[in-house]
Amino acid sequence: MLVLGIETSCDETGIALYDTGRGLLAHALHSQVALHADYGGVVPELASRDHIRRVLPLTREVLRGAGATLAEVNAVAYTAGPGLAGALLVGAGVGTSLAYALGIPAIGIHHLEGHLLSPLLADPAPQFPFVALLVSGGHTQLMRVGGVGDYTLLGETLDDAAGEAFDKSAKLLDLGYPGGPAIAALAASGHAGKYPLPRPMLRSDNLDFSFSGLKTAVLTAVRDLPPGTQARADLAAELQAAIVDVLVGKTIAAMEQTGLTRLVVAGGVGANRLLRMQLDAAAQRCGCTVFYPPFEFCTDNGAMIAFAGALRLQQDKKENPRGNGAGFTVRPRWDLASLVAG
Ligand code: KG4
Ligand code: ZN
Repeated sequence: MLVLGIETSCDETGIALYDTGRGLLAHALHSQVALHADYGGVVPELASRDHIRRVLPLTREVLRGAGATLAEVNAVAYTAGPGLAGALLVGAGVGTSLAYALGIPAIGIHHLEGHLLSPLLADPAPQFPFVALLVSGGHTQLMRVGGVGDYTLLGETLDDAAGEAFDKSAKLLDLGYPGGPAIAALAASGHAGKYPLPRPMLRSDNLDFSFSGLKTAVLTAVRDLPPGTQARADLAAELQAAIVDVLVGKTIAAMEQTGLTRLVVAGGVGANRLLRMQLDAAAQRCGCTVFYPPFEFCTDNGAMIAFAGALRLQQDKKENPRGNGAGFTVRPRWDLASLVAG
């Protein structure tokens, strides 16, 4: 079965073709980072318009790359939420229209389910069940994953996501958007510990997170910071260390609490090298194995949507499971734990 995946939930247009027999055939991505850079964050209206411009040319490029034609596609998977409403509508509109014209199923995919299942695109792929640390720009969650559609929330952020802490702090330090890679790059020449920041909720007796206080602490620290690049690098290093300490501490607590030994890390912050190093070291100490998506599939992409769509369609035995061109909805807010197995 050949599945076309369309991701347009935020500031990346991602298209991919996944074949259930042969694996990922081709994928293409257009990042809008340059488009939003001047504004210090994503401007929703500009994002929607750019998705409209990119989605069909990228689809043609992917088909060409895979040596396939539209007529050979068996299903279309698109991101139905959560995300920016206008941006989601582009992928949903194009996806369902294509499916209707081709007489094939269209399936709306939960963006975080895409992230969550993306480590299964790697070799070796983790076996179910596993604990997943989901760290995207808008979400920080620990989930128990028993199978496709079997997601139990173990803990989540009570306010800002870890990615948001990176992004908002980067703004305070006059760094570019997105903030995570910018902070990580600056932190490389800095020393953590010089300007101490809190490790919010690290010692709390649950698996929840809170990162909004960290942003406030960075605001205060920036105000008192001596001039010069070194001080900014030291603060960036401390911020990265604080976020990583909390993520690693809570994740290891989740492994202990569930008794599971496989950990999956997904979402943009999962590209952070310090996080990977410290998670690997901590996991090794407790006899756990960590699985990451291929590096290019950590941040938003079409491959994870095509792949999640293929898994969902395989699981769903009905002929035309979801969406038959009669209409579609997008869900800018959507709780992952509310999903059920097909
Ligand atoms: O999963 P993603 O691409 O988009 C959402 O679904 O939100 O995640 C984007 C987030 C942003 O907050 C970005 O700053 C962060 O991932 N990020 C990083 C790194 N690369 C991306 N954070 C820390 N270190 C990185 N290397
Ligand atoms: Zn994402």
